[in-house]
Amino acid sequence: MPRLYPESPTQQPWSFLDTRPFSSEEIISLFHKADELRQNQESLGSYTQNEAVGKVVFLLFLEPSTRTRLSFEMAALRLGHRVVVMDAGAGSSRVKGESDVDTVLNVMAMGPDALVIRYNRSPELDQLLPRLPIPVISGGNATAAHPTQALLDAYTLYRSRIERGIGGAGDLRGERVLIVGDINHSRVARSNFDVLTKLGAEIGVCGPPKLLPAVGEIPNVKVFRDLDEALLWPTVYMGLRVQLERHESGETGSGSLEAFHERFGMTAARLAKLSSEALIMHPGPINHGVEFAEGVTEDPRSRVLVQVANGVLIRAALLSKIFEGRAR
Ligand code: CP
Repeated sequence: MPRLYPESPTQQPWSFLDTRPFSSEEIISLFHKADELRQNQESLGSYTQNEAVGKVVFLLFLEPSTRTRLSFEMAALRLGHRVVVMDAGAGSSRVKGESDVDTVLNVMAMGPDALVIRYNRSPELDQLLPRLPIPVISGGNATAAHPTQALLDAYTLYRSRIERGIGGAGDLRGERVLIVGDINHSRVARSNFDVLTKLGAEIGVCGPPKLLPAVGEIPNVKVFRDLDEALLWPTVYMGLRVQLERHESGETGSGSLEAFHERFGMTAARLAKLSSEALIMHPGPINHGVEFAEGVTEDPRSRVLVQVANGVLIRAALLSKIFEGRAR
């Protein structure tokens, strides 16, 4: 641990590295902030009239990203902030062997007002980030957590319930979310287990046995072995990408990707079995022909691009609260 920062964590109340310290009330309050920004956009043409806020948000993405990085960028710009972006590409001194910790320390020395960071497994960064003296937001941490993805997923369900006239209290009671695919390597699944259950939804998982948690390993999560039987259960179907880059064996846990698709992919036949009221979600990126057959995202039940749009709103809501000093 570098001695620049305190030895004991000084987790700032306005940082957001994990959903677990946040209560359901705090999460719903964030949804209300996102609703406020949405209404401002509709009536004023912008999230805020205070366009000269002038904060500098540093986006440090040490793993690839499209949706998370760009939606944080969009959110910050729409709020009137400025952004500096460093991504996982070849244009940084990481290619010369600079460590992730040194990269963060150098970014900090430049004085950003907030840091959004995505990184692969790093116990050193796990220790350092909560000690930084500025707000730090996780943009996804290895297989451990993707807190803002879980927020935008829950917000998408919350909005769909409002649109259907069943969302009065803001919680997700009555929803049964079936998460299908590579659960064990999914930070999205992990954060969703926390947020969705906190808001009252039930969760089931289905996928190749090698890619599933053991029964009982994750409390209150149903484990389904057979997708065709599981399909009768959910109000929400959430597909997940097979994360080959995180597999030690480089395998899908179900033989080939074709075999995975046959047993655990959303196919035309399975679309027909799924309730006509169910929603279809996926955090992206999607491997068409693997977890979803071609055409699934065009199904009227798909909310995949709504999730992306809501990602900008929910990240803007989080940045707003953080800069107001009241994320908690
Ligand atoms: N859902 C998600 O995290 O997508 P990106 O990897 O493109 O950010």
